[in-house]
Amino acid sequence: MSMELDAPAPEEPAVAEDGVWLECIETGEQYAPFEGIRYRSDAGGLLEVRYADLPDFTDFSGRGVWRYADALPVEREVTIDEGDTPLYEVPRLEEELGVESLRVKHEGMNPTGSFKDRGMTVGVGVARRLGVERLACASTGNTSAALAAYGARAGMETLVLLPAGKVAAGKVAQASLHGARILEVDDNFDTCLDIVQNLANRGEAYLLNSLNPFRLEGQKTIGLEILEAFEDDYGRFPDRICLPVGNAGNTAALFKAFRELVAAGAMETEQVPKLTGVQAEGAAPMVEAIEDDREAVERWETVETRATAIRIGNPVNAPKALPGIRETGGTAVAVSDEEITDAQRSLAEEGVGVEPASAASVAGLRKLREEGVVGSEEDVVCLTTGHLLKDPDAAAAAGADPEPVAGDTDAVLEHLAE
Ligand code: F0G
Repeated sequence: MSMELDAPAPEEPAVAEDGVWLECIETGEQYAPFEGIRYRSDAGGLLEVRYADLPDFTDFSGRGVWRYADALPVEREVTIDEGDTPLYEVPRLEEELGVESLRVKHEGMNPTGSFKDRGMTVGVGVARRLGVERLACASTGNTSAALAAYGARAGMETLVLLPAGKVAAGKVAQASLHGARILEVDDNFDTCLDIVQNLANRGEAYLLNSLNPFRLEGQKTIGLEILEAFEDDYGRFPDRICLPVGNAGNTAALFKAFRELVAAGAMETEQVPKLTGVQAEGAAPMVEAIEDDREAVERWETVETRATAIRIGNPVNAPKALPGIRETGGTAVAVSDEEITDAQRSLAEEGVGVEPASAASVAGLRKLREEGVVGSEEDVVCLTTGHLLKDPDAAAAAGADPEPVAGDTDAVLEHLAE
């Protein structure tokens, strides 16, 4: 592995506030963290949160995202008790896939049913500190549900742009009830995000998509929880983490968590889990970039998949995530909608209910085992990002049909005997 992770702690620049600043990953330009609506550098590059002092990652207390407050840029303020999600054993899948160990980190068990809550507790906290008026996001559904809930919690106005007809029912219902203003755009997610960026550039709204570097700080805690829990159970770190990829925010966030752990001396470079991204075949620009060994991802204008959460053609965090996959020795793989549904059923058979995009992580692992890319000696964690109830239509279509029967015990017995 070729990671250059053990860089010394950075000098604190004059723009820092409370030991925190923003830095462009392309040019190194530095910015004050809590001033104005900024989510890219002047050169247009992605921003990353930097800290003068990071904790040594040995001394945490409490539960959930804010257990790791010392590695986060703001104080716990806007919260609905996010994080602390289960790391399930799945013995039948482990046996079928033939790996040393397999665990499922079920992020669907967060307050609004997806990992987005981890980013929002931090991102909306920053928005409040900035004193912005309107929060906005483009979304394939889960981000809008989480933003609506955290915006409501903070007493702020929220605006969400959704691709019309392509968002699962549970997610729209959440955004609606939590009081977001919902615009259904007659185009795909990527166009919605273009528009929200334009709104942010014009000062009309504070952007809370994963382009917002503060959101990814909250999402780092997925990695920290996985490592802590896995080490408690097995006395070692997992070899590989498989995760679904849309905008590649989680891929970027996990990589940042690992880099900070290595820089703090809490993990050896050789112990960093291989980040393994999974996309749907109909929306796989990251997989294409990895397979073709490209520097950058090329935007897909046309995307389609049953896993609507990851129906994304322009993974905006690719400049952060491609190095994450490459430098950890991971890979990326595309799976069909049928393979996604099969994996969704396999998880359901173990009592773990996930939405289609989440099952992509398991479908990808299954494929990589078949291809021999993942070895039988590996300890693997699959990330399942959203709850089954997010997309009730997909769940019902993948499951068995209800059988109509008369309201009579003999009729029921007769029907069962058929
Ligand atoms: N899984 C689920 C359930 C998601 O909702 C998303 C993204 C992803 C995976 C992909 O994560 O972007 O970090 O690679 N959903 C966003 C949304 C786009 O609007 O809800 P990523």
